[in-house]
Amino acid sequence: MRLIRTEKEVFTLEGVPLPNEKLLDEVAAEVVVCTKCLLSKTRTKAVPGVGSSAAQIMFIGEAPGQSEDAKGEPFVGAAGKFLDALLSGIGLLREQVFITNVVKCRPPRNREPMPLEVKTCTPYLDRQIRILQPKFIVTLGNNSTAYIFSKVNLSFTGITRVRGEFFKASLLGMQVVIFPTFHPAAALYNEKYKEQLAEDFQLLGRELKKNMIG
Ligand code: URA
Ligand code: SF4
Repeated sequence: MRLIRTEKEVFTLEGVPLPNEKLLDEVAAEVVVCTKCLLSKTRTKAVPGVGSSAAQIMFIGEAPGQSEDAKGEPFVGAAGKFLDALLSGIGLLREQVFITNVVKCRPPRNREPMPLEVKTCTPYLDRQIRILQPKFIVTLGNNSTAYIFSKVNLSFTGITRVRGEFFKASLLGMQVVIFPTFHPAAALYNEKYKEQLAEDFQLLGRELKKNMIG
């Protein structure tokens, strides 16, 4: 089927609107039955992502943890509670944004995703980004920042060096602002990271207000 894309909606040639929601649902439907990498053998549920199909801001974590794997939803465990608090601190509900991960299935014992798993899974993330066309992409932690930076040819020198800064870039043919910050799970047990993550969110909140987002 040929599709015609306008700012936020996609139409078939017959002019029938296919809202982003339907396209995101199609990605999610593929993810939940995906067996493209070995993580499919150990997962309970794949975790495609949640949020608004009209979101202008996207949050990208690393991979599902134990609670996410059980529920099929991203950021529902301890790190998720912290993320919800950070969001509400800048006047955002998780329903207003889109939250997902680089890799959609939980790596055993929460190890980091392997390069091949990232390579195999990220076409799903890329599709989600293309559908949403977010103005802001917030990368949470090393893995998601490294992935998004690699897509826009920015050199990634570690999260502590690049966090809290806005990077304008052309990603998948779209103008976006990338904002890397710490992963909430890493900050949970580190007071310094926690403070810096909270500061980053305040900065993000001000920038979103300036852009009339949220
Ligand atoms: N950590 C992540 O990176 N993603 C989740 O969904 C939960 C914890
Ligand atoms: Fe498929 Fe990604 Fe899950 Fe691997 S991690 S099985 S590629 S959805």
